Amino acid sequence: MKKTEKRDTFSSKLGVIAATVGSAIGLGNIWRFPYEAGEHGGAAFMLAYIIFVVIIGVPLICSEFLIGRASQCNVHHAFKKLGDARHKWHWLAYLGIISSLMILSFYSVVAGWTMEYCVQAVCGTFAKTTQSGLSEYFNEFTSGTARPVVWTLVFLFANYLILRKGLKNGIERMSNIMTPLLFVLLIAFCINSLCLPNALEGVKFLFVPDFSALTPSVLLGAMGQAFFSLSLGVGTLITYSSYFKKDVKLVKSASIVATLDTAFAILAGLIIFPALFSFGMQPAAGPKLVFEVLPSIFSQMAGGSIWAALFFFLLFIASITSTISMAENSISYFAEEAHMSREKATMLSIGIAMVFGTLCALSFGPLADMKIFGKTVFDLFDYTTANLLMPVCGIFFSIFAGWIMDKKVVRNQLTNDGSFRLPVLRALIVCLRYVAPAAILAVFVFNLIF
Ligand code: TRP
Repeated sequence: MKKTEKRDTFSSKLGVIAATVGSAIGLGNIWRFPYEAGEHGGAAFMLAYIIFVVIIGVPLICSEFLIGRASQCNVHHAFKKLGDARHKWHWLAYLGIISSLMILSFYSVVAGWTMEYCVQAVCGTFAKTTQSGLSEYFNEFTSGTARPVVWTLVFLFANYLILRKGLKNGIERMSNIMTPLLFVLLIAFCINSLCLPNALEGVKFLFVPDFSALTPSVLLGAMGQAFFSLSLGVGTLITYSSYFKKDVKLVKSASIVATLDTAFAILAGLIIFPALFSFGMQPAAGPKLVFEVLPSIFSQMAGGSIWAALFFFLLFIASITSTISMAENSISYFAEEAHMSREKATMLSIGIAMVFGTLCALSFGPLADMKIFGKTVFDLFDYTTANLLMPVCGIFFSIFAGWIMDKKVVRNQLTNDGSFRLPVLRALIVCLRYVAPAAILAVFVFNLIF
């Protein structure tokens, strides 16, 4: 990185929270959480998910935050600067950059679906369609060739337009306005869902756990979801926190981010499952779940098309604040390490995602039979990033912060140079050194053995 360049920082503390929350909140909460919970037995999954957020999620957000802010540079350089350069810690950065580009690719496909649904809602398509019609509509649309690909590319191009402008103008301004708006809308939908007949079944499905359902694969899914939803284990948060100012309280910010993110996921669950049981649909529908249930809800509401259009628009915005955080990871690497201009680095990152995004978009149609390890490209990218690459990186991030980094630097980052007392400091260090790596490893081992 060039020494003379002054790095961008987020301009306010609210901006920091809003941008990080903007990264965390997205399709992971509203699309992925309900479908994973639906497939993995509901409440048991949610319980495991919340436990993982507390014992792995929050400590790992802190680890990424402190690595980022202590280093003030991109992921790759951060590990070189803070660790012993002879060791290969910076290889983690490559793993993170590969993961973030993989996520960007399949995530953009789903974000493209939200754009299609937004347009269809405006055209009033859902108001006229029956439930089986909605399911058919989804299958027909996603198994096509041109439309899913075009939407994926349009979505990625929108990312390009925002990202090339740099941090403040693009990312920060947008997250500040849209995330709170989405929250309000979700609460309104949640109330609506809870008033549907038979809604209580859905609430029970989400909150009354059947402990026998806690199988190894449910645990792995829940852990993967915690990583995915909190944007962990690829270095996104290292990149973002490298833009944090000195007075940001890291542990407090991490807790706020984790709490808000979980609140969004639970809200989404409280919208989807009551409606699903009320309409007599199946929870284990996979990635299409939300796209079938939500339009059904909207078609029953007064002014449903307007609600639907507004919802899918906000979901699109929530997705874009997440994808720009994924892309920023590789962009800052290409720009600062490979000495490209920001414009070129952005073009390269988005270009790679466009190629793989196209393959993912075709995974529901022309490439549905192209299976690698029994999975389509889309499923493979989704599964391996959340359930393998991110947790593996997570183990090393936490070991790096807990064991490798200079203790004084860690303490100073967490307490802003000792300017306040942090009662959880000890517990946090213990989590970083032992609990988080051991828990992640245990879930892996558990899955291999059983
Ligand atoms: N957390 C985001 C969501 O829930 C997705 C996301 C953004 C992400 N940045 C990431 C996931 C980095 C993994 C890694 O939608």
